[in-house]
Amino acid sequence: MSLQAKLESLKNETLEKIDNVSDLQALNQIRVETLGKKGPITEVLRGMKDLSIEERPKVGSFANEIRDELTQAIEARKQLLEDEALTVALAKESIDVTLPGQQVQKGNRHVLTQIMEEIEDIFIGMGYQVVEGYEVESDHYNFERMNLPKEHPARDMQDTFYISEDILIRTHTSPVQARTMEKHDFSKGPLRMISPGKVFRRDTDDATHSHQFHQIEGLVVDKHVTMGDLKGTLEVMMQKMFGEDRKIRLRPSYFPFTEPSVEVDVSCFKCDGAGCNVCKYTGWIEILGAGMVHPNVLKMSGIDPEEYSGFAFGIGPDRVAMLRYGVNDIRNFYQNDLRFLSQFKGE
Ligand code: DAH
Repeated sequence: MSLQAKLESLKNETLEKIDNVSDLQALNQIRVETLGKKGPITEVLRGMKDLSIEERPKVGSFANEIRDELTQAIEARKQLLEDEALTVALAKESIDVTLPGQQVQKGNRHVLTQIMEEIEDIFIGMGYQVVEGYEVESDHYNFERMNLPKEHPARDMQDTFYISEDILIRTHTSPVQARTMEKHDFSKGPLRMISPGKVFRRDTDDATHSHQFHQIEGLVVDKHVTMGDLKGTLEVMMQKMFGEDRKIRLRPSYFPFTEPSVEVDVSCFKCDGAGCNVCKYTGWIEILGAGMVHPNVLKMSGIDPEEYSGFAFGIGPDRVAMLRYGVNDIRNFYQNDLRFLSQFKGE
């Protein structure tokens, strides 16, 4: 076979291979194998020395043409394969912005947590510290130190879950008063604290009773603390919680740990005193218990009642939430039904 014929058939073979190749790596392989230094074209050109002088330039330029043609064919194929690869990559990586998004369910804080944090914020703003007590308490702190010695008839006001004779789950947040007072260093300033938390009573659960509910205890002890301070403080709290126009009134009451003791009512936030179902047509809503800290309670915590006085109060966030949102069954707060709880989005 003449050199030209060899080159011709080499060209055709290679063109066919180029046409059939479908990936860039294989295409490069063809380029190296056919046009490279060890490739057949170079080989053919090496055989030119055996040709006659007249034939050499013809064969030489023919070989060059073939080399150019193949180079172009490879380039063209390369371009095509690269375009194809790009199209595939674009299709794979494209995002369909019209697809519906995945709904992420957003939770919210429990409505009672929201109310408690709201009350905490009001008191933090007035310079109070927030103190957490113990849910498992001793009889000593829950009762004795709150001026409720054993056999005191007022213990009956709080049906208690006892764990042992001396240990119980607290019936109120008042024991935190004693724990905080006995530790407080009055040379550093007055004591102002609130204590939110769970409390427990042996009640049969119904629409208005739950064996577990919440309280927020408040306590201020300093020199010359008066009932006027108590009233002013509670008024500010009620106005922040139920609106600027709220008024409060105090009615005499009894708690063993305060003397005097009061029941505090707030003017109805719904009817503004005219009478409605929220205030049971009285214009007033019973909202919390309070009083001046009993001298015995101060004394038992190592504070001299001749020198210091204080006020205390206890408020129920469950009741606040029920009033504010018109919830008529306290058990709703504890059944973890999201259809109920997710209504209270908070901010
Ligand atoms: N500890 C009381 C209760 O559970 C609530 C209470 C009333 C707390 C008057 C106080 C207070 O600090 O002064 O029923």
